[in-house]
Amino acid sequence: MISTIKTELKSWVESMADHFKPEKTYWCDGSQEEYDTLCQLMVDKGTFIKLNPKKRPNSFACFSDPSDVARVEDKTFICSRRKEDAGPTNNWMSPSDMKTILDDLTKGSMKGRTMYVIPFCMGPLGSPLSRYGVQITDSEYVVVNMRIMTRMGNQAIPYIDENFVKCIHTLGAPLADGQEDVKWPCNPNVKYISHFPEEKLIISYGSGYGGNALLGKKCFALRIASTMGREEGWLAEHMLIMGVESPQNEKSYVAAAFPSACGKTNFAMMVPPEELEGWKITTVGDDIAWIHKGKDGKLHAINPEAGYFGVAPGTNYNTNPSAMESIKENTIFTNVAITKDGDVWWEGMTKEVPDGLTDWHGKPYDKNSGKPAAHANSRFTAPAYQNPVIDPEWDNPEGVPITAFIFGGRRSTAVPLVYQAFNWNFGVYMAATMGSEMTAAAFGEIGKVRRDPFAMLPFMGYHMGDYFNHWLQFGRDLENAPRIFGVNWFRKDKEGNFIWPGFGDNMRVLKWIIGRCKGKISAVECPIGWRPRYKDMDWNGLESFTRDDFNNIMIIETEPWKAEMLGHSELFEKAYDKIPKEFLFMRELLLSALWRSPEKIGLAPERH
Ligand code: OXD
Ligand code: MN
Repeated sequence: MISTIKTELKSWVESMADHFKPEKTYWCDGSQEEYDTLCQLMVDKGTFIKLNPKKRPNSFACFSDPSDVARVEDKTFICSRRKEDAGPTNNWMSPSDMKTILDDLTKGSMKGRTMYVIPFCMGPLGSPLSRYGVQITDSEYVVVNMRIMTRMGNQAIPYIDENFVKCIHTLGAPLADGQEDVKWPCNPNVKYISHFPEEKLIISYGSGYGGNALLGKKCFALRIASTMGREEGWLAEHMLIMGVESPQNEKSYVAAAFPSACGKTNFAMMVPPEELEGWKITTVGDDIAWIHKGKDGKLHAINPEAGYFGVAPGTNYNTNPSAMESIKENTIFTNVAITKDGDVWWEGMTKEVPDGLTDWHGKPYDKNSGKPAAHANSRFTAPAYQNPVIDPEWDNPEGVPITAFIFGGRRSTAVPLVYQAFNWNFGVYMAATMGSEMTAAAFGEIGKVRRDPFAMLPFMGYHMGDYFNHWLQFGRDLENAPRIFGVNWFRKDKEGNFIWPGFGDNMRVLKWIIGRCKGKISAVECPIGWRPRYKDMDWNGLESFTRDDFNNIMIIETEPWKAEMLGHSELFEKAYDKIPKEFLFMRELLLSALWRSPEKIGLAPERH
């Protein structure tokens, strides 16, 4: 079997070489030696800057082309055979039209470059929950990042059968004979990130950056995997996975979905406050979860990735000490600033801006320019095993059992700090209608609420309505369904200040959530679900957060909620033909509960 498949793989690679016309083809073995050689090659080309080994051993920084700094949602396509399978939230083009465009663009597009072949595994090697892919690329940057983000090279080869996902990536920057390369090759004008779900094929053209180019991540592990999960009965989600250990050493695992730029990596590595003695957080994953039904009737999740491609700005020893430890060495930094002694810096790393920085354009940084030294979407790529709070089960082929799902957007109004959905269906409704205020990472007007169902809007590989139905169906026969919670760390007071301290104090919310899952902590009912009273949460060490503050962050005001419900309707209208009937009834139920409530729904009277 293996030998025939290897022949298939080989002939696929040969046909790719025939089309892209690279100078040579190189099969990646995934070794440290290979990684070091490619990094050195990029140093020689000027793409990589070797950082001071005393400060940041075996680490590199690079600056991308200014046109190539983020995912390109408007150039991302789901090319399913039928338009209605892509649904109203995805760009669609027919497979043949997209292939005609790409065929033209990519013919000979690797001229003068090496075509690298990267066999890789998403998930623990050999796990029945893992899936395999082969990426071809003409970017050394992609190879070395893929080595951190996936299990790649020779170790993956024995597992690759005819079902592997074909991941094709080209920078779209061929070199004519004798033409000197630029530091960050890409096509500054044309980019296409296209997915062919029926063929399990990804073709990415024109970008060398992050989610556009490291095809194991958003393209495979979310867009293609979500369609595989639908066919095969599992879920591919934009979720972190964390372990939560109680002082009694009871371990629970939680999966949480937040839109991009809502601090997922910080939450996944949170350090609980000292006053909540004995509580411990460990990280299984910071971005993606693949969730299957286990034989024990529970849901089991794996992190398909092997590293973190985290947002740098704002990361420091207070906000995320474990991330800072994870990036101490063996790390690639993209679009951060460089200090004069050869280390890295970004906004929020320290209060003081160091003198003598080189900014992300590679130019001396002018502190008075009013511009940031590091790009807002600058990143670190670091191996997961360097995380000091990595969960001991993070590589377990069986995955970890999930006790709770958490969904949270960035909302300055309306949405309370925490609430629990009445049941699975209401939880799915809550996740489906989640909204988040846009930041630079998303397209659209900054600050405006965009509906981001399950934090999957840019990552759903198929029709949103089918996706909601898949979730509802998935929960129908679960013996031990995880409880579902909504959170909002970002609510603001009338003066525009964040009410909630966030970071480690999010442990207080998590403690209530775990207590609810174990049936140990009480709550009161409100129109949108169950919520804690002040006395239901642990305030030890946060006495400055008063009962009034709590009321302000928990209050549900009917007027903003009616507006919220209109937002739900707008979303449903987009996909009216496929929206689950259950949603329409739940919406009515929520509306009538809100309608009958007083203008401000405070808390039930408490006995002190
Ligand atoms: C990411 C994202 O890069 O969600 O993880 O945008
Ligand atoms: Mn993400």
